[in-house]
Amino acid sequence: MLIMKMTNYYMSYHESSCIEGRHMKKETWTDSSHWPKEWTELEFKTYPRFPAIELNSNYITSTMSLVEALQGRESLRTSSEEILTFEKLSYILKYSFGLKNITQKNRRYYPSAGARFPLECYILINNCERIEKGIFHYNVLDDTLEILSKGNFREQIEDIFGFEWIRESQAVIFLAAQLGRTIVKYGERGYRFALIEAGHAMQNFCLLSRSVNLSTTTVGGFADHKVSRLLRFSKDKEIPLYSAVIT
Ligand SMILES: Cc1cc2nc3c(=O)[nH]c(=O)nc-3n(C[C@H](O)[C@H](O)[C@H](O)COP(=O)(O)O)c2cc1C
Repeated sequence: MLIMKMTNYYMSYHESSCIEGRHMKKETWTDSSHWPKEWTELEFKTYPRFPAIELNSNYITSTMSLVEALQGRESLRTSSEEILTFEKLSYILKYSFGLKNITQKNRRYYPSAGARFPLECYILINNCERIEKGIFHYNVLDDTLEILSKGNFREQIEDIFGFEWIRESQAVIFLAAQLGRTIVKYGERGYRFALIEAGHAMQNFCLLSRSVNLSTTTVGGFADHKVSRLLRFSKDKEIPLYSAVIT
């Protein structure tokens, strides 16, 4: 029988991220007139020296209702007949993780604590119409896919997840967090907020994927450090939180 060695780190983390009533006074988070610029200035990760592919989310308008998408969403771990097209990928990335409007950079399709938006999105493409295999970063400002590495990364995918069905998938999305953006304002609680936000954004992704007939499964079980190495995260700056597989 597998006996899990448990520590109580989660409870000590929970305790250290609790808010005491006295910290909710007007002069802290709730009164924006006193906020330092570190709480209001937004950071966006971009790779200006890397080539990028312009996405186009305008081709698709799904007619599926929200309730139908909710009813239809389920985790599917077998290969799907539904091809991941450039248009579908553009559509689901934009409306899951993108900006609503380039002139208002603190508004996206999911809520974020204090509009700090700590999440970054990466995608490993194995099979997508019009896009070569490789590793990409979703640039929310330009609505582009920045090409980080071209090539076949199926072996690394299997190494990270340990499952054949993920290795054979059409694409894998990773949501990572630049925790500093949130921690600077909320301290330890910022870690909780990043996890919650990843859930919000990923639910968009699941429902949008469903609305264009793509099969997805969200996956929390992966080798964290292998993901960080593959995506070349700076230590202590960015961490992988959550992933989704398009089969
Ligand atoms: C936080 C989280 C982590 C998950 N991790 C995995 C995983 O590592 N592997 C997997 O096959 N499914 C994973 N899933 C999918 C669940 O197994 C699945 O959602 C659950 O069985 C309910 O089925 P449904 O999604 O079809 O409704 C995860 C789901 C969530 C919300």
